[in-house]
Formats: sequence, C-alpha cells, structure tokens
Amino acid sequence: MRVLSVASEIAPLVKTGGLADVTGALPAALAKVGVHMRSLVPGYPAVMAALSEPEAVHAFDDLFGGAAVLLQGRGAGLDLLVIDAPHLYGRPGTPYLGPDGRDWPDNPERFAALAWVGAHVAAHGAGGWRPQVLHGHDWQAGFMTEYLPRMGGADVRTVLTIHNIAFTGATDPGRMHSLRLDPWRFHTEAYEFWGGISALKAGLMGADALTTVSPSYAAELMTPEFGMGMDGVMRHRQADLTGILNGIDEQAWDPATDPAIVAFTDPAGKAAAKAALQAELCLPQADGPLCVIVSRMSHQKGLDLVLGTLPALLDAGGQLAVLGSGDPELEQAFRQAAVDPNVAVRIGYDEAFSHRMIAGGDVILVPSRFEPCGLTQMYGLRYGTIPVVALTGGLADTVINASPAGLARGVATGIQFAPVTAVALRGALMRMATLYADRDTWSQMQVNAMAHPVGWGQSACAYADLYARLTDPS
Ligand code: ADP
Ligand code: GLC
Repeated sequence: MRVLSVASEIAPLVKTGGLADVTGALPAALAKVGVHMRSLVPGYPAVMAALSEPEAVHAFDDLFGGAAVLLQGRGAGLDLLVIDAPHLYGRPGTPYLGPDGRDWPDNPERFAALAWVGAHVAAHGAGGWRPQVLHGHDWQAGFMTEYLPRMGGADVRTVLTIHNIAFTGATDPGRMHSLRLDPWRFHTEAYEFWGGISALKAGLMGADALTTVSPSYAAELMTPEFGMGMDGVMRHRQADLTGILNGIDEQAWDPATDPAIVAFTDPAGKAAAKAALQAELCLPQADGPLCVIVSRMSHQKGLDLVLGTLPALLDAGGQLAVLGSGDPELEQAFRQAAVDPNVAVRIGYDEAFSHRMIAGGDVILVPSRFEPCGLTQMYGLRYGTIPVVALTGGLADTVINASPAGLARGVATGIQFAPVTAVALRGALMRMATLYADRDTWSQMQVNAMAHPVGWGQSACAYADLYARLTDPS
C-alpha cells in the first residue's frame, strides 16, 4: 500500500504542536503494517537543511507565483518529498508566522501550493512512485480534493485527518483566482463556508474518508459546541468519519532510556527525577504533589483556569511548574504567578526540558476546553506522572478516571473533571491531593499508568485497514 502524507509540519524537522509528532511518527508505525508512506512537506529552511541526497523529480514553472522544484530525499529517517519554493517557504519564523508573530498574509496561497503539489504527485507520480491514497492533515491540505480530479487523479482515494477544527483556513472569496479554485464550486457542497472560502471545508466535503484523532472528538465534532461552525458539515459526513487515537513515540518517550533524564523503570525511581527538577527550577525540595504543565498557551488549553485555582493547590501543599509559550497575556500572568516560591514558570519552547518536566512531575495538568487528542497526558502516563485532565476529546479516551468504581477495580490512571471550569478543576486538584496522600493508592495508579498502552500499534492498524477499505471496497 502506497500513501502520500501531506502536512505543514513533521517532527523532528519542523514542529509547532502535536500535528508534527503525529505526521513524524506515522510513517514508521505504518511501515510495520505494510504501508509505505512518503511525506510531502514545504521546503522551509529547516527542512531544506535536513534533506540529504536530494534529487529533483519535477519542476513547476509557476507554483503560486514563482518557480519550484519537487525534491525527493531523506531527512531524520523520513522518506520525504520536499517543495523547494523559496518564494513561498524560504522565510524565517514558524511555518505560519513571521518573526513579528503575525500570520504571513499569503498563507492561503502557501498551503494551497502544498495541496496542489500533493494532488499533482497523486495524479502523475513522482520519481516513478505514485500513491494509491492521498492522506492530508488539517486545513493546509484541504484543497487537495479540489485539485485532484482536475489533474486526472480521480482513481486515487483521499483521506483528510482533522487535528483541530478550530483552524478552518478561511479566507475571502476574492482569492478564488489566486487559490486556483474553480469558481463554479463556490457553493455549500464544496469550499464555500459562511460566505467565504475555507480550505478545511473543501477537504471535509471532498475527501473519500475523514478521520480525527480520538473517538470522543469524532462525536464532539457533530455538536455546535465543538464543531465551531463545521458541525453541520460533520453531521453530513458522519458515516465517513472515524476517530483513530494518536499514539506517542515510545522510543523518544521511554523513561528507562530517556537521555534527558535520570532514567527510571518504576514509580519509586521517579524520586530522583523529581528532586532534580525541583533543584533545576529552584523549587523547595518539598514532598507535596509537584504539578507540571507543558503546553501551548492558548484559550484551547484552559490554562487560565489553573491560575484561578493556584491558591488552593498551594494551600494543599502542592507545587506548580510550567513550560509553555503563546498568548502574551497568559505568559505574563504565569510570570507573575511565579513570585510564589512554590511556582516555577519557563516561557519558551524546549524539547529536552519538556522531558525533564514530565519525568520529574507527580502530576501533569491538561485542563483543555477542547482537546482533539492531546499527547502530553500520554507522556505523563508513560512516566508515571498522573494526568489530571478535562473530560473531553482524547483526554477522555486515554485516561481512566479515579472514580470510586475505577479505584475499586484498581484500574485508575488519572483524574478527570467536568465541566471545564475553575470550580471543577479545583475539585479535581483536591481529589488529587487526597489520593496523593494515600501512598498505596497513588503507587497503584502510577503502575497502572506506566502499563497503559500509548504506542501506535492499534492505531497504525486502524489507518492501514482504512486505506485497504478505500482502495478495495469489495
Ligand atoms: P497541541 O498540538 O494542541 O499543541 P498536543 O498535546 O497534541 O497539543 O501536542 C503538543 C506537543 O508539543 C507535545 O509534543 C508537547 O510536548 C509539545 N510542546 C508543547 N509546548 C511545548 C514547550 N513549551 N516546550 C516543548 N515542547 C512543547
Ligand atoms: C492538534 C490538537 C491536539 C492533537 C494534535 C495531534 O494540535 O490540538 O489535541 O493531539 O493535533 O493530533
């Protein structure tokens, strides 16, 4: 089975969030179940620098405003197709934002070009290789289903994975021409969305199959609360939508071999990692529960609720350590909170430090308002760092709540709360403090957590089955 993955990020080459972790991990996971996945990515400076033995396989005279070359090669163990188009991707900053922190004004065209090249490879092949399935991720790949039939690729099946429906790739109808869209398809059955253009809507309407990154989020997407204007579209496509849970990279996140930490194999071994983290953050070497957060700072993640409940956590003898960046107001509020000696805050993005945080914490907090899947709660499970999470999306699907029933059966791995309010979070933190004080119960939860499967095994099979069903419907 040959599949072309189309995404705007891929770890470890370029990452702003979990999307990159997923697109970076899937090819190796799928290889084990007989799927050959190649990954198409924009040629950002970091990708170009990592590409080894590049070979030109196609030239575009005019790819959305300039000449471009499609390169095949390898980078970080990945089988890559890279779009070398300096006019679109040869820029500093993140994949989406310039150094001034603002969206590039031509983002719709930059990612339409990604979808265009994806469709081109699907229709015509590249370097003698042609996929049977074109698998796009999020709005950046959405227009692939508009372009593919026009290029003669109607025999290739399409899958679109929704990692976050909050990002719709919306723009105004005046860009129809520059986005190379067929004007006759500006209607509700195609890429029209509330009077504008949406790349995500195009893909949601056009793809043969849709997936999202957890079963609970798949159900939530049908509701106005979580569908964010797309819930009608999602109900329309309900029969073609599957929730396939993300896994984590079990090699990168292995407490027994993690080079970033004092390695450990059981809950008792965590003590050294905790002491090291407290020392690194100049936190008192106290015995109370050390809660950690590793997160983008955005409304989605509910971190404002943590600020509201901080006094209660500290009163209960807890400590808080935060690593994150994003919304300047949240960054500032957390910096202020760090005046308390039991609170430590690092604003920034630091992969190695994120491992030391998750290894050294007793608890990982993920109070998201919505969370399509979430990866950090799974890192927490693997490291015996008990997740305290909102009961939503993938957080609901990956954590077994320490309810009376869960505790009685000895299967609990974490604590879930609902609704996503400061009052409910406070209640969850108080439950956590009580359980933490009961050393036997806590240790049992840590053992359960560390044994909980968080790898890609099952989900890789689910993707392989989906590709097989699409290409051979009999
Ligand atoms: P999202 O994609 O919505 O941000 P996920 O939980 O799926 O949420 O993925 C976030 C990824 O980014 C995880 O791998 C997490 O460890 C990482 N991450 C987030 N913030 C930071 C940070 N400040 N430093 C290092 N890694 C981070
Ligand atoms: C998005 C979601 C996150 C998910 C990630 C990878 O960024 O916000 O919940 O884990 O994609 O699928």
